[in-house]
Amino acid sequence: MIHSKIIGTGSYLPAKVVTNLDLEKIVDTNHDWIFTRSGIVERHVAAENEFTSDLALQASRKAIEAAGIEANEIDLIIIATTTPDQAFPSSACILQDKLGIKNGGAAFDMQAVCGGFVYALNTADMYIKGGQAKTALVIGAEIMTRLLDWNDRTTCVLFGDGAGAVILRASNEPGIVASKLHADGSHREMLKSDPLIYMDGKAVFKFAVKVLSEIVEELLEDQKMSGSDIHWLVPHQANIRIIEATAKKLGLSMDKVVVTVATQGNTSAASIPLALDTAVRDGRIKPGQNILLEAVGGGFTWGAVLIKW
Ligand code: UT7
Repeated sequence: MIHSKIIGTGSYLPAKVVTNLDLEKIVDTNHDWIFTRSGIVERHVAAENEFTSDLALQASRKAIEAAGIEANEIDLIIIATTTPDQAFPSSACILQDKLGIKNGGAAFDMQAVCGGFVYALNTADMYIKGGQAKTALVIGAEIMTRLLDWNDRTTCVLFGDGAGAVILRASNEPGIVASKLHADGSHREMLKSDPLIYMDGKAVFKFAVKVLSEIVEELLEDQKMSGSDIHWLVPHQANIRIIEATAKKLGLSMDKVVVTVATQGNTSAASIPLALDTAVRDGRIKPGQNILLEAVGGGFTWGAVLIKW
């Protein structure tokens, strides 16, 4: 049986940092409100001349280096993004060229907003297990700050920009053990771009806590596992209170949860691979451990992936 294994991770955050105190100067808000309601202290914001494929390129180079492979070995690129460089060509095709890959492998973007990375990881896993790809580059890259109304204090304080990447390779050893994806378009008005971000925060909060708890239980039950089998929960980073609620439901203490929301805000599809890379590089995530990823986003889309590292 062919498995797909993550053999390298990388991430990139734009240089510019915007703190809650900076936001106090442009909108009627304050650090205490933002921090107590969301856990966010600061976020990174892309430069005017930076595009999603540029963020993806930086993260990808680090993942390729960590994996110890040549870029040309990559025969599948998927970028999960809501903020592509342009409507077309896809940011994945632009990235393929920037990486100098000339092997004709497939490249495309995937749009499931904050749920994007788990959707993309599951898709790449299917390509590898189906024998259609051997080495996949899966990225979450977003410039959500370009979709913000900087006069809307209910949304502009929550989001940030960044990119995270993983290299997934066909392997005889277990890697991605199981994935679950769901969507329900009937809730699409709760969180949307029109053309800037609109969110009914309270409704999204409630929905997020409910479906994330359900999906992790569903996935673990299928695997005949429980929360105590999980070494690290790497959740989408939208709000520390949502993360705490999901961990509690799993019976996991917060010291088994990778949290980056304080310094990055909600980076949509980029938040999971950014958090994953952080915990791999600082040595928390180790070979043999069970890692659980989960995310929910506009659509609504939601999903979870269980990985044997
Ligand atoms: O990535 C996936 C999707 N996103 C999420 O998962 C986010 C989900 N939602 C949330 O994280 C939370 O609902 C928020 C952080 C957005 C808001 O927290 P909340 O505890 O639900 O606050 P609220 O929306 O009920 O607002 C409470 C009060 C309101 O004032 P009134 O009506 O009680 O007088 C808001 O107008 O806080 C006010 N408020 C603010 N005050 C200061 C809203 N935004 C701000 C702000 N600064 N930035």
